Amino acid sequence: MNNEGYTIAQNNENITEVFDNIYKIGTKLVTKNFVKGHKVYGEELITYKDIEYRMWNPYRSKLAAAILNNLKEVKIQPGSKVLYLGAANGTTPSHVSDIISRTGRVYCVEISKRSMRDLVEVCELRNNMLPILSDAMEVDNYSKIIPDESCDVIYQDASARDQAGILIKNTRFLKKGGYAYFIIKSQSIDVGKNPKDVFKSELEKLKDLYEVKEKIDLNPFDKLHMFAVLQKK
Ligand SMILES: C[S@@+](CC[C@H](N)C(=O)[O-])C[C@H]1O[C@@H](n2cnc3c(N)ncnc32)[C@H](O)[C@@H]1O
Repeated sequence: MNNEGYTIAQNNENITEVFDNIYKIGTKLVTKNFVKGHKVYGEELITYKDIEYRMWNPYRSKLAAAILNNLKEVKIQPGSKVLYLGAANGTTPSHVSDIISRTGRVYCVEISKRSMRDLVEVCELRNNMLPILSDAMEVDNYSKIIPDESCDVIYQDASARDQAGILIKNTRFLKKGGYAYFIIKSQSIDVGKNPKDVFKSELEKLKDLYEVKEKIDLNPFDKLHMFAVLQKK
């Protein structure tokens, strides 16, 4: 992904809180660093009035891109329990960790052993993150760690072929009325199909379980994914 030019011009610009624990410095998004001095993906750290913030790059994180593209509400809040599917090296999960802070928890499911090695290092420093090496389809691997209906939010960014299927399997962990951020990568499902048709058919598969609240186009930060906000019925 391209992140050229995504640096802060002036460190003395005004800071405003746009959602709980999510801020803007000028036009750039930042989160308050949960572990002082800790960088996860080479992001810039900025100290303002004795508080350290981490730059949140929308070219590297689809949640940041969705927020900058006018996501109405961020359901990940201080104290939230989040099930994160497809945690990779921990880029976006680390910002989730900043937001949920001391009383929250993010369960980070990842299938790749290579990514898991980096993720474990991030989780060792951030005690509100729990790494889980597993296929997100194999929910019995972690059903003893995560009680049913205990999570406020599911963040599904596992780039597998059956993305709706993964969310359906994991819905048991979500509270009734809880939210799912469902990130659809059409190319992982069917490269030959029009992405719009793929997005539509994935959402169709979820209609008995979820109500679609928002659909966010991630342009110009990301052109391959669609970001949907769903609420469990
Ligand atoms: C686009 S990356 C995730 C990026 C990450 N969410 C972020 O924003 O920092 C997709 C990840 O999904 C993982 N993945 C693919 N299929 C999976 C599955 N069935 N179960 C768990 N993880 C899976 C891949 O290994 C990859 O790390």
